[in-house]
Amino acid sequence: MPDSRKGSTDTRLIIVSNRLPVVLNKDKDGQWSVVSGTGGLVTALAPVLRDRGGLWIGWPGTVETSGPELEAVLAGNTLHSGFTLSPVPLTSEEREKYYFGFANEIIWPLFHDLVSQCKFDPSYWSGYKKVNRKFSRIILQHLAGNDYVWVHDYHLMNVAQELRLLGVKDNLGFFLHIPFPPLDIFMKLPWRFQILRALLNYDLIGFQTLRDRRNFMQCVRTVMKDVSVQGKGQVVNLRFGDRNVRVGAFPISIDFRDFVNLSSTQEVADQAWYIHEQLPDVQIILGVDRLDYTKGILERLEAFRTALLRYPELQEKVVFVQAVAPSRLQIPGYQELKIEIERLVGEINGQFTRSGWVPIHYLYRSLDRTELAAYYRTAEIALVTPLKDGMNLIAKEFCTSSLEETCVLILSEFAGAAGQFQRGALLVNPHDREGVADAIHKALNMPKEERRQRMKKLRASVRKYNIYWWVNSFLHAGIAKRLDNFPIIEEYLPQMKMG
Ligand code: F6P
Repeated sequence: MPDSRKGSTDTRLIIVSNRLPVVLNKDKDGQWSVVSGTGGLVTALAPVLRDRGGLWIGWPGTVETSGPELEAVLAGNTLHSGFTLSPVPLTSEEREKYYFGFANEIIWPLFHDLVSQCKFDPSYWSGYKKVNRKFSRIILQHLAGNDYVWVHDYHLMNVAQELRLLGVKDNLGFFLHIPFPPLDIFMKLPWRFQILRALLNYDLIGFQTLRDRRNFMQCVRTVMKDVSVQGKGQVVNLRFGDRNVRVGAFPISIDFRDFVNLSSTQEVADQAWYIHEQLPDVQIILGVDRLDYTKGILERLEAFRTALLRYPELQEKVVFVQAVAPSRLQIPGYQELKIEIERLVGEINGQFTRSGWVPIHYLYRSLDRTELAAYYRTAEIALVTPLKDGMNLIAKEFCTSSLEETCVLILSEFAGAAGQFQRGALLVNPHDREGVADAIHKALNMPKEERRQRMKKLRASVRKYNIYWWVNSFLHAGIAKRLDNFPIIEEYLPQMKMG
């Protein structure tokens, strides 16, 4: 689909991600419909995209439809959202090799330090290169002189390199939503040189935390020759041959106000009341995760069991609600994890349940936003204990929903959010069952005043460094030289700290 704006001199934003921010559904008569995404990323980017005739390029999430049928379905959403969605259709083989294979059986586990879960199949690398080339060709069809292309995440690390081969000169930004691993782990990747070489074709590379950026810099220095770094602060300059690449840390966040508004609704209050009615006279501990081995769900369940054994007075006084959203079930390991979680929940409940009290309530489904906010409002404590995580937005949503500021966040040291939350959360090592059990006990017994002081700090941090701050700081670093030509959301500008 050629773009009508080709040749325009305005700066336009083109977002590129593996998935489009929509969900396609097929009804029983085979008719497709589309539902807009509601995540923080799309909410924050929508105004910037809408005001400048922006575009979002990505895979529609299914291999069952393509061509004019798919474009017609997406056109309906364009009318409603005010920006254009351009699909990158994938065949089932491409999905297999690129998405399930290279992205989710190599990069995902490796970048989360879980080398033993990696399947270094060379055909995955070929599939990854092929699909990244496909994305690039579609981007090029739309690209006009002044556009800024912002590519997201580990599925698309090769896109800039492919675009350079097609003659694109500048204005290519990349943000990695997941962690970047330490040198000794990254070196296990058979395509380590190719991946770094590809990444260095971006003009700006953004990471979640300083830790990720440090890891990346160390890998670049070790694997590549002729590299020097200038500056310090949020964004530094990396000189590589004749290329200048800016590298920064931009912790992603949520729409604070939107979440406060949602949590303050009567509907959420009613649902929260109902949850408490069903679980009277207990404090609720909450875990919410996508089904994934990086989230530390099994370790968390064991830690909860340890807490009940170490502190028997907690029995019949606490309930642990663990919600797990189905995810990536076609990938080996995810189905087994689901079975193992169910087995362990059953075992612990079998061990401790008494008449009128079941210690673990397990929900295997995605919660809608209202239900999720109601659980946040009902729980006293959130247990967010991933083995490793890029950021973890559940932690930020939970704090934001704590309107009375009396809840406690127990957070893994290995979540990206830990750097930002170290003064407010109780930080734990998710592998240390006894340590997590002690943190649960401490949280349950924490005086109200201490809870308040801690939660105040946490909420102030999310309020200030919210999703708009994140979008603005990345775009500011990416296109500072043409900033006056770009609609930065001014309300948040004073809070931006640039290196
Ligand atoms: O955290 C990385 C991420 O790719 C998110 O962007 C996404 O919401 C989540 O994992 C689920 O991923 P998938 O697209 O594989 O279902």
